[in-house]
Amino acid sequence: MLIGVIPGDGTGPEVVAEALKVLGATASRFDLTLEYETFDIGGERYLRTGETLPDEVVGSLAEVDAIMFGAVGHADVKPGILEQGIILRLRREFDQYINLRPVKLYEGVTGPLAGKDHHDIDFVVVRENTEGLYVGAGGFSHRGTAQEVATEESINTRFGVDRAIRFAFDLAASRKRKHLTFCGKTNVLVHSHDLWMRVFEEVGAEYRDVESAYANVDAVCAWMVQSPERFDVIVTDNMFGDIITDLGAAIQGGLVVAAGANLNPDGISMFEPIGGTAPDVAGSGKINPLAAIGAAGLLMTHSDQPEAGKAIETAVASVAGSLPSLAAGEMGMSTSDVGDRVADLVTE
Ligand code: IPM
Ligand code: MG
Repeated sequence: MLIGVIPGDGTGPEVVAEALKVLGATASRFDLTLEYETFDIGGERYLRTGETLPDEVVGSLAEVDAIMFGAVGHADVKPGILEQGIILRLRREFDQYINLRPVKLYEGVTGPLAGKDHHDIDFVVVRENTEGLYVGAGGFSHRGTAQEVATEESINTRFGVDRAIRFAFDLAASRKRKHLTFCGKTNVLVHSHDLWMRVFEEVGAEYRDVESAYANVDAVCAWMVQSPERFDVIVTDNMFGDIITDLGAAIQGGLVVAAGANLNPDGISMFEPIGGTAPDVAGSGKINPLAAIGAAGLLMTHSDQPEAGKAIETAVASVAGSLPSLAAGEMGMSTSDVGDRVADLVTE
């Protein structure tokens, strides 16, 4: 299996190195052959060459089986250039139409919610990943004048909504609780979320064993804090999914443990820690690599290696629960020590 690796900027290379270390350990335990091809992509390259994602890199990535992604971002690059030019382009280019984000408070980890433990916080967000407000539809007129108009349109196709919702129902059907919440805003987004609601009901009728529910996004935010145990699988659009998954990361102990998968179930998927480049601690060996390692676990699970994926997830959970704190610099050990510990557990 060939894995394309994009370490990126900031702490990206440090956490990706630990993810690859753990993948290596997993490969020896499960007798897999993993090969890597690394790509120099990110803010540094952009500043050097003016390129975000050259076509020849897209061409090479089209040949890999999966992509392991670190983080991109640079203080000297205007917001939007790297995000649109790299992350969003990769998601679109490879039609990674699902952004899967598990929200799990590992046993032994003290999260920020008083009285909530690992029994209460264990759900998955299915975020539509190629449409909505992320398509870049919109524009300016009279830019820079007092009459300026700026628009940003949310594009929702029945095709795109249908495949995201179906994926979420399939996922819910495969889980113990079999419960799916559509997180929307049907009381305000009377066009796009009317479509979402109709498709949700239509597809839901095909899944009699899955209990479905609707909740407004603002209520979902409150419930994620007050009663996260009510959620099993949540399906939502691209923008709301972006926002609620940072909240999800916060209640599971922080972005440092939040892993995500940009999935094309029939194509090339990309796995990433959902946090950013953490420039304040980059290069110091202080960053927690568990999110990236967890993403490597998702990579295995979604590359037809569920046992390897499970082994990584179990090891990540155990190491997370054993650390004094998940925060950078407060783990009581270095980035690389954390990677070693997970790798040891995987091979045990
Ligand atoms: C994420 C990130 C990205 C997004 C940014 C960096 C474009 O916040 O993966 O959630 O909004 O999707
Ligand atoms: Mg985000």
